[in-house]
Amino acid sequence: MKLPNYKDAKNREKVDINYLDTFHKYEAIYQGKKYFLRTYGCQMNVHDSEQIKAYMQMLGMEMVDKLEDADVVILNTCAIRENAHDKVFGYLGRCKHLKKAKPDLIIAITGCMAGQEDVIADIQKNHQYIDIIVGTNNLYDLPKLLIEKKSKQNIEVYSNSDIVPENITYERDSKISAWVNIMYGCDKFCTYCIVPFTRGRERSRKKEEILKECQCLVDNNYQEITLLGQNVNAYGKDLNLGYDFADLLEGVAKLGIPRLRFVTSHPWNFTDKMIDIIAKYDNIMPYIHLPLQSGSDRILKKMNRRYTAEEYKTLYDKMKKLIPGVAITTDIIVGFPGETEEDFQLTLDMVNYCKYDGAFTFIYSERKGTASALMKDDVSQKEKESRLHRLNEVVNEYSKESNMRLLDQVVEVLVIGKSTKDDDKVYGYTQTMKLVNIDASEDTIGKLVNVKITDAKSFSLDGILVN
Ligand code: 5AD
Ligand code: SF4
Repeated sequence: MKLPNYKDAKNREKVDINYLDTFHKYEAIYQGKKYFLRTYGCQMNVHDSEQIKAYMQMLGMEMVDKLEDADVVILNTCAIRENAHDKVFGYLGRCKHLKKAKPDLIIAITGCMAGQEDVIADIQKNHQYIDIIVGTNNLYDLPKLLIEKKSKQNIEVYSNSDIVPENITYERDSKISAWVNIMYGCDKFCTYCIVPFTRGRERSRKKEEILKECQCLVDNNYQEITLLGQNVNAYGKDLNLGYDFADLLEGVAKLGIPRLRFVTSHPWNFTDKMIDIIAKYDNIMPYIHLPLQSGSDRILKKMNRRYTAEEYKTLYDKMKKLIPGVAITTDIIVGFPGETEEDFQLTLDMVNYCKYDGAFTFIYSERKGTASALMKDDVSQKEKESRLHRLNEVVNEYSKESNMRLLDQVVEVLVIGKSTKDDDKVYGYTQTMKLVNIDASEDTIGKLVNVKITDAKSFSLDGILVN
């Protein structure tokens, strides 16, 4: 038993990283049993779920898509905002109910919620029906805990870790597009954010291991790789080898993967060298997710974002100037403690300046343990909702405009799969990450095709194949 601990999580003293070979073959002791997996939250969690699937398969289990059919339920949770928390607990209610009818049901929790001190204390007290809790830093312990099957609630969460797991087995969801973790954790401590607590210190994988994994994907005919990290710009800083994210990006681009992407990057240390490399390689996609959070210097400072609105603009201008056709999307929070109407107007000003291709917008949500939780959450819910609504109107207008600009143009699309809404259509993404529904047969799936855009909406495009 190891409980999450925010004091440990806050500790960023320099430590030597242990590269742990996590590859194991497990006995299929759950042969014939069924598991149900539900994933909440970001791409990191989606990718972690590919790891969970591999473990379940090794243990002999088969995945089912109905909760009621499961012998093992795993919720891979998110902690970023209160509504993520509420969704998980809502679902846990259903699991608890099912366990009454099926007492042998095993319920496991993974993901960021496992790293929340207060949430785990509540689970220990009020949710004894949950059997297993594993943290994000030691997800490789999940099969071990399932094999041990203790009669008591079993919690293993390493709040901060010196371990970088290597040789992880993944059961990838796609044969076309793959995620590759380049680093774990985050040291930025934006004051609203729980991630540095739930995912621990920044730890980079060795470049050799990353390149080896990417080479393997190229050899297996993958068309796209997305490099993953909470803040990819920080890659390599902890290793001190003089090899940074730009070098890594170039190294992977040179392997010849048709499309290379990365998420997420912080505006604070997005270097000129990174911009140059993105511009230089045709297979690095001209798409950057550049979280703004706020357009007001006063709020940015309270958020500990380490840049001013002016610095953000300068970076934005440089990207637009140097990377041909680059699309830029963002994240914005409204209603941060102390945000006035004037601050909010500065955010709107910035949106009007950047005319984003897309934006994820959020109402501030207080997370226990973070620095901003100690600030007075003084913007009323009504005001927060009004700001979100006003922001979304502007944001949607620009994303529609940016889609409209593609009307009648021919763009390259990587076809990902069959459309869920229309049997005669497939869907894919442009280089700039815009969703396109195409009148085309299933043969195009996994291929790069040229598409003429025939219709543009706020969140998607329609198109037809051209030669
Ligand atoms: N409240 C609201 N939004 C948040 N985000 C992170 N933490 C919070 C919070 N406490 C948003 C940020 C981040 C995105 C992933 O989630 O905009 O970029
Ligand atoms: Fe959270 Fe900031 Fe780290 Fe992003 S960079 S994960 S917002 S602390």
